[in-house]
Amino acid sequence: MTLLPNLQSRFRQALATLTDQPEPWLEMIRCAQDTRFGDYQANFAMALGRQLNKKPRELAAEVVARLDMADLCQPPEVAGPGFINLRLKDEWLVEQLTAAVNDPRLGVEPTARPRTYVIDYSAPNVAKPMHVGHIRSTVIGDALCRTLRFLGHQVISDNHIGDWGTQFGMIIYGYKHFLEPDAYRNRPVEELARLYRLVRQLVDYVENEKVAAVDADPLLAQLAAEHPQIGRGTQAETAKLHAGDAENHQLWQEFMPYCLEDIQRIYRRLDVHFDHALGESHYHDMLPGVVEDLRRRGIARESQGAVCVFLEGQSVPMIVQKQDGAYLYATTDLATIRYRMEQWQPDAILYVVDHRQSLHFQQLFGTARLLGYDQVELQHVSFGTVLGKDGRPFKTRAGDTVGLESLLDEAVFRAARIVAESDDSKPNGAELSPDQRACVAETVGMGALKYADLSQNRTSDYEFDYEKMLAMNGNTATYMQYAYARVRSIFAKGNIDVEQLRASGAAITIDVPAERALAIELLRFGDALSLAMTDYRPNQITAYLFDLAKSFSAFFENCHVLKAETPELRASRLLLSDLTARIIRKGLELLGIGVEEKM
Ligand code: ARG
Repeated sequence: MTLLPNLQSRFRQALATLTDQPEPWLEMIRCAQDTRFGDYQANFAMALGRQLNKKPRELAAEVVARLDMADLCQPPEVAGPGFINLRLKDEWLVEQLTAAVNDPRLGVEPTARPRTYVIDYSAPNVAKPMHVGHIRSTVIGDALCRTLRFLGHQVISDNHIGDWGTQFGMIIYGYKHFLEPDAYRNRPVEELARLYRLVRQLVDYVENEKVAAVDADPLLAQLAAEHPQIGRGTQAETAKLHAGDAENHQLWQEFMPYCLEDIQRIYRRLDVHFDHALGESHYHDMLPGVVEDLRRRGIARESQGAVCVFLEGQSVPMIVQKQDGAYLYATTDLATIRYRMEQWQPDAILYVVDHRQSLHFQQLFGTARLLGYDQVELQHVSFGTVLGKDGRPFKTRAGDTVGLESLLDEAVFRAARIVAESDDSKPNGAELSPDQRACVAETVGMGALKYADLSQNRTSDYEFDYEKMLAMNGNTATYMQYAYARVRSIFAKGNIDVEQLRASGAAITIDVPAERALAIELLRFGDALSLAMTDYRPNQITAYLFDLAKSFSAFFENCHVLKAETPELRASRLLLSDLTARIIRKGLELLGIGVEEKM
């Protein structure tokens, strides 16, 4: 059992006769701030004392008397107003570490209660510019998938791509009126993107008359003049597509592979893979049934010609069918819930989507519960906006997929400079070949982008800043990757066969405080992962990894490793170093970030 749950279960027993709701009190057992008094501290005696009308110190003493943890801790001490200080036994720590060293799971047991999760993330609208928000969703969603899977849950990842929206009306209209056949034959993705941008511009101009670019460009102005009805025209193309018009459907089918290839490039680069990519189009045929079901069960009713769901406490209804008969985003999402429940019977569905859609999800979940889906955890894992240096929502220069890719390129380009500088400044001269450097730069660049995102509290906005994300010091991927490579270099320098070392059964000792502190940090890995998954916050994992790296630095400064006083001590410290490296690598892997053996 991982550390914290182990302590908690002992307290659960001790509290059994005092309260029948121990959980909130168990959450008040934490890592100690000041390790002079112990490793963990339980702080509930004050609040529980108030509830039970007992003096906190006496209550704490009573709990301590009932605690059965002699195998795990030194006798607990009551301090101050009623804190219970716990110091883990060295023998127990050593036993756990020894087990972790020989465990491919690094001491993290799979959950005792595996659940089935559907994770809905990334979900760009194809054929439309993918924006930074989609990267955020992709990176966070991927980290959740990896971590929950590692913890032993069943995870189904599903990319709910927007492949059925009005953008297709625009492209189809563009295809029918403005296609350049040669361009389409040679570079279809680019030509479709051009058509989308062109039609979009013309529609905006004709409808809103405020796209200056059209006025500045006589050719565009002429096209606008020739297509005064373009707004209605594109809507008609979308409507025809949705109504099953053969020509439009065939065009849509022709375009889709190109659109998908366009986003696939980004996923390959980010090393993100989905089990399913059931886009909005997949649900099209189910929409009339959804609306009918809602009406029949009295959950939806007609209002001003539209079909709406009115929910308690909501000032605006959720519209599921417009006056003209068209279905909406919400209708598709309801069909999607039904499909997922029937197909996979999940315990939870997580939607990793921008916080601006929170009203949509509140209404969606409210309606789903009325439909009887009240056992499943429906969770909007929302996230804040990525900001530019000016504090406004970040935009790539071109504002499209190309722009998004150039963002990745820029990160790698800057990483390459850092990698070269650091390699050049090695005491014995550079070690990496140009190919190795390029490889390392890709790992560092992608890692920096992802980690910058994941290390933020996901609900806050954050500023996109290459320099900060690639900093060699501080809570960055670059720092963690260098920390990993530094440990690996100890092994290279000492010419040590790790496999042999692990299998040697060498004893671990933790007599020096820095060794002991590192030991506890190493054993907290599983707790950090579980904690991060209670409310789906990958930043708890990065924070843990950063703490671990700091503990390792302190250990390395205070303890000789290769030059340890005795061979036994050397082996023990090498084992601690090896476990550190493996946990850093695993932790980063769960965030979708790679490491390099040599940097
Ligand atoms: N395609 C949507 C957008 O780009 C996100 C979809 C999120 N998932 C969902 N099931 N609604 O805004």
